[in-house]
Amino acid sequence: MKLLVAGGAGFIGSTFVRTFLEVNPDARVTVLDKLTYAGRRENLEGADEARLEFVEGDIRDVEVVAGAIEGCDATVNFAAESHVDRSIDSPGEFIETDVFGTYVLLEAARDAGIRHLQVSTDEVYGSIEEGSFTETSPLDPSSPYSASKAGGDLLVSAFRHTYGMDSLIVRASNNYGPRQHPEKLIPLTILNALHGDPIPVYGDGMQVRNWLFAEDFCSAIRVVLAEGEAGEVYNVGGPDELPNIDVVKAILRLAGGSEDTIEYVEDRLGHDRRYSLSSSKTEGLGWRAEVPFEEGIARTVEWYRDNPGWWEPIRSGEYREYYLAKYGRAIAD
Ligand code: NAD
Ligand code: DAU
Repeated sequence: MKLLVAGGAGFIGSTFVRTFLEVNPDARVTVLDKLTYAGRRENLEGADEARLEFVEGDIRDVEVVAGAIEGCDATVNFAAESHVDRSIDSPGEFIETDVFGTYVLLEAARDAGIRHLQVSTDEVYGSIEEGSFTETSPLDPSSPYSASKAGGDLLVSAFRHTYGMDSLIVRASNNYGPRQHPEKLIPLTILNALHGDPIPVYGDGMQVRNWLFAEDFCSAIRVVLAEGEAGEVYNVGGPDELPNIDVVKAILRLAGGSEDTIEYVEDRLGHDRRYSLSSSKTEGLGWRAEVPFEEGIARTVEWYRDNPGWWEPIRSGEYREYYLAKYGRAIAD
């Protein structure tokens, strides 16, 4: 088995590549990644290099994709612009990568006659006050990010419907764990807490997310890739649902920070109030989330505390300017 993993140098993609190679000792992986601000070659450290090929390139580039896909038995697409706040400021890149890039990958997988698994998000369903979204819930995305992801999903479904392509979609709730870029709530809070910086909480902090440890999501992707029925969608939700303010307080306790550093700031435009997924269809394939939030968040805080060599280059680079422009204050040196 040889997989093409697009976006394999990002947070979840690199977790997937490492764990996929670990549990499949005969498998090989080609990673295709553009190495945007969110992707780093060093995220793949610890993966078995002998069975890993790395191609630096853009999923929108037809020739690069055609070269990378050669000899592969399936594609898994993680490549995307992934941050909601950045999509609100500049939607163009999201449409180009998350929609057009998905189209290029689909064409290449169709030409090669191989399975395509699209990694998607609960955000395509929009916000839900009560209960949980199932795979048949209508798509109702709120942000340019989630609309772009929905566009990618619709192309995957259309390629199945029109060409009979062997394609699948997995839609996950909020992931967290080691190597997540600090633009996202959990690593941002951990690093700010470790530096004594204020913690920016949007609005009233009562927005609810369904937290999923990235390794659990990656085990779900492996199960769906192997057992999923062509043309189907599979939801993968985390075991714990929490308001943001509780997440922030839990991190402050673990990182030794003070709740006095919490700063309520202007809300995100069009902010979805609550996400919730039913995972029963994926559980029907034998998958279960194994890491409860209490354990996963303790492991995550410990990883960031122990790995300044990973985040120091990020905090001194593009992220510094991004943070200053977005939050109106500098991060600590
Ligand atoms: P990430 O931003 O950490 O990683 C994205 C990766 O894609 C990076 O390595 C980046 O370099 C690469 N990339 C971006 N544009 C590219 C292009 N044009 N060509 C090639 N590579 C490109 O994102 P993540 O959090 O790891 O998310 C991975 C996928 O999972 C995304 O598709 C995202 O929509 C989806 N998802 C994420 C979450 C979450 O909570 N993080 C939840 C559900 C679904
Ligand atoms: O639900 C799945 C999605 O989860 C993925 O599809 C996205 O790729 C991923 O980025 C994530 O989106 P969110 O917008 O939910 O994640 P983020 O970490 O940006 O924000 C989580 C919550 O925390 C959200 O309600 C906004 C809030 N927040 C975020 C930041 C960055 C704050 O209150 N303050 C902040 O500074």
